[in-house]
Amino acid sequence: MSERRPYLAANWKMQKTVEETEDFLDRFLGEIGELAHADIVICPPFTALAAAVERCRRSPVRVAAQNMHEASSGAYTGEISAPMLTSIGVEAVILGHSERRSLFAETDEALARKLVTAFEAGLQPILCVGESESEREDGVTEDVLRRQLEADFESVSAKDLPEMVIAYEPVWAIGTGKTASPEQAEGAISFIRSVVAERDSRAAAQVRILYGGSVKPGNAEELLGREGIDGALVGGASVEPADFLAICEAA
Ligand code: PGA
Repeated sequence: MSERRPYLAANWKMQKTVEETEDFLDRFLGEIGELAHADIVICPPFTALAAAVERCRRSPVRVAAQNMHEASSGAYTGEISAPMLTSIGVEAVILGHSERRSLFAETDEALARKLVTAFEAGLQPILCVGESESEREDGVTEDVLRRQLEADFESVSAKDLPEMVIAYEPVWAIGTGKTASPEQAEGAISFIRSVVAERDSRAAAQVRILYGGSVKPGNAEELLGREGIDGALVGGASVEPADFLAICEAA
């Protein structure tokens, strides 16, 4: 791993009530003592964000949302805005997760606007990109990644680029138990860094790029030991404190 500080994010998706969030954090925060080497971010559902921020207050752990709307307020029933998140102490937001892209029709055009909104509000975006299984089989992985990144970055300034986090999440590896091989993850991440470098080489050296897709305690060390892989976005294996802790320790 490079001089970039490791970044580990727990994406709980639609799991955990307030009580379950507090129980996880009481156990997790009790164990993380030595983990000052990494940025650790917990992404609970909206209803548990405030409780998570409260529980993490005197800890190094930060709290992120799993999505947000691009506008700061308005007639958008069911949506949550960036100022609403920052007002309760949320510091980051996952944008463009493949489940949002595929199940909720999230477009790259909307993501481009959401990235700008997140930076304006002072939220660190964790932007997810990745190819589907058929796209990998067709040999178009790099075309897909380039298309997503170029569209999503359209209005992001070179000054903001190094502050964001990018997660390479091959869609076929998410929640399937099929992990990308360390070579596949390293190759895609190095390609993503080269696309960032076309915009700004300093940003490319600084931006943290994570791998996500069936990361578990058993494969974390192998993946996180690879050149250019700066951390992990963890779904299934992040809901148990001991499993997520083991992944954080592997970074
Ligand atoms: P997974 O999910 O670890 O369960 O594959 C990762 C993600 O969706 O971010």
